[in-house]
Amino acid sequence: MVYSLPKLISFLLFFLGLASAKCHTFSRTISPSVLGLDQQELNHLNFYFHDIISGQNPTAVRVAEAPITNTSPTHFGAVMMADGPLTAEPELSSKIVGSAQGIYGSASQSELSFLMVLNFAFTEGEYNGSSLSVLGRNPLSSTVREMPIVGGSGLFRFARGYAEARTHAIDFKTGNAIEEFNVYVFHY
Ligand SMILES: *[C@@H]1O[C@H](CO)[C@@H](O)[C@H](O)[C@H]1NC(C)=O
Repeated sequence: MVYSLPKLISFLLFFLGLASAKCHTFSRTISPSVLGLDQQELNHLNFYFHDIISGQNPTAVRVAEAPITNTSPTHFGAVMMADGPLTAEPELSSKIVGSAQGIYGSASQSELSFLMVLNFAFTEGEYNGSSLSVLGRNPLSSTVREMPIVGGSGLFRFARGYAEARTHAIDFKTGNAIEEFNVYVFHY
């Protein structure tokens, strides 16, 4: 069988690639400076999360529930998908700094408490394009709910810290709420 020169070259490159892949180790130690990780910073962010569950343009929708959810006093098993605006001031008309995108679900049978799995996706200023990831517990009866920041992207790579959520306003008829967030986060 006769192969064309380009084909032979591509075979050769393929086998060289296999051979060199075998020499690479799976993991190695590198210096933090390789990634430009020099000075760790601590930041405080303050913003308001708008959770609109009723009306024409809800920002959170129920995507799943269990057979017992609607008879459960805590709506146990209800799962919501949210993409709610984050604003600099409590008013929805104030500057939008990002959005809170993710899932929250009723995770307690004895009180109204959510499991929060959210990304704060920032769209303003130096944090535009960067995000923080939240994984925590949100018991609504507590005045301050603390949720861990488990990571981040962009300027927030290697982020860790915590978020404090406080209810700024809630409409008990519609369920719509404005939550104030104070986030304290270490990153590089
Ligand atoms: C944020 O970044 C996006 C994508 O790079 C850009 O289109 C947008 O104008 C930026 N927004 C602000 C407020 O800088």
